[in-house]
Amino acid sequence: GEPRDLTQQVLDKLATADAPLNTAEAFPDASQAEIKAALDRLASRDMVAYETLESEHLLLTPEAKKICAEGSHEFKVWDAVKRKGGVPVKELAKEVGAETAKVGQNVAFRNKWIKNEGSVLIPVAETVHDATRELLQSVDKTKAVDNAKTLTELKKRKLVTLAKVIRYKVQKGPKYARKMRVEHTDLTADMLASGDWESANFKPYNFNALGASQNAGALHPLNKVRAEFRHIFFNQGFVEMPTARYIESGFWNFDALFVPQQHPARDMQDTFFISDPAMADPPRDDPEAEAAMEQMEAGSRRLFASPDKPEPKPRDYEQYWADVKKVHQDGGFGSIGYRYPWSAEECLRLVLRTHTTAVSTWVLHRLAEDPRPARYFSIDRVFRNESVDATHLAEFHQVEGVIADFGLTLGGLMRFMEDFFGKLGIENLRFKPAYNPYTEPSMEIFGYHTGLGKWVEIGNSGMFRPEMLEPMGLPRDLRVYGFGLSLERPTMIKYKVSNIRDLLGHKVDLGFIEGNAAVRLDKN
Ligand code: PHE
Repeated sequence: GEPRDLTQQVLDKLATADAPLNTAEAFPDASQAEIKAALDRLASRDMVAYETLESEHLLLTPEAKKICAEGSHEFKVWDAVKRKGGVPVKELAKEVGAETAKVGQNVAFRNKWIKNEGSVLIPVAETVHDATRELLQSVDKTKAVDNAKTLTELKKRKLVTLAKVIRYKVQKGPKYARKMRVEHTDLTADMLASGDWESANFKPYNFNALGASQNAGALHPLNKVRAEFRHIFFNQGFVEMPTARYIESGFWNFDALFVPQQHPARDMQDTFFISDPAMADPPRDDPEAEAAMEQMEAGSRRLFASPDKPEPKPRDYEQYWADVKKVHQDGGFGSIGYRYPWSAEECLRLVLRTHTTAVSTWVLHRLAEDPRPARYFSIDRVFRNESVDATHLAEFHQVEGVIADFGLTLGGLMRFMEDFFGKLGIENLRFKPAYNPYTEPSMEIFGYHTGLGKWVEIGNSGMFRPEMLEPMGLPRDLRVYGFGLSLERPTMIKYKVSNIRDLLGHKVDLGFIEGNAAVRLDKN
């Protein structure tokens, strides 16, 4: 039921007590929480002073309780043998039960209560003293034994268990009174007018109170880590890319990135293809995407765009399409190409985007209208047709950054990564040569995670290839590099989640989502 307020009862009992109160005796039926609440309330007002006494009680197990009621195993064995004048060894279990026969026989022999005559047990003692039973009866009463050896023995025989008990020793405090004084919680205009405020007794603030729990929504850990990443990007002048569309054509997800049409990533094993509609229109002006980009750039654009930005000229998508085809099939822009018959149909298949680089590609082709230094980022969902395990789902979030500038070098990318990951508390980066169809050189990024105490792969990066950038119409001397990582990995590390299903999906514990701390991407 409702917890009781024992405040007044404590004051009453103290009024007549001539020694400190022991709460176990004074309030045998009250819960520890009820007692503690009353004591804290009174102690915070100096009306009582109390000490916490911790001790351990011995409790009888069900087997021990049975012994208290019926006698020990050895007693039962002796009793049966005595009553019958003799019991064949083989029949003892039938008389007293298998367990009692086994345990009790040994002790009864040791105590010289019974002996063997051939294969028959016969009584030796006329009367016996059932010490085990008496010991347990005394434990039941006093909750203790007087020596450590007996305790070890009883624990080993699983006859007792230890339980911790907390009691309090309570005394009157300097401000003890038989009744709590009325406590005001507010200073009112009336009190000021009448002068009562001078003698009024105000309730002290309880700075330890936890506060009422708010029945409110909570941000998912992924959202919190995402917010931190966005903060880092915005602080460095990045513009967010519009990533609202999960479905892309092969063109934006693969072909425009110089991913060959036979690449394993374009296989059904790795990519989810859309069946209805199965095909996209060829790339063309996209007012909706344009509008989303305009909106996201608002503000930051003015900082970075050339002041005399030309009116966007209509893009020649036929040329772009033809150049993408050419660079795959025949080569161009200084590249020998892949030299395979390029299929328009393959290029127009609709897919769930497998990386946010599809969006970066769209944004970069748009940058070609007014080539200039630019920084873009995105954090959103991508899809891969992979087998699901403790650390992988078929969908996850990518954090991606793209930097365009004249005269960029690979060393600059490494330096940028060091700064960027340094802000997440990941230092001493290591770079390993890797392969992406759309970047050359490419590097996997490893970082030493101080919290985990080991090297972890944290991202993938590289310089976008001319075969990707030049068909867009970007000038040769405008270099672009990019990097990507998953949002899930740092989130799992941060929140110490080892199974992705504890973070996403129907098995997630909502208590974990509500209760976890706001993230700071700090040193651990
Ligand atoms: N698209 C890459 C991935 O999915 C990440 C990346 C982005 C690599 C940009 C290089 C440049 O892992």
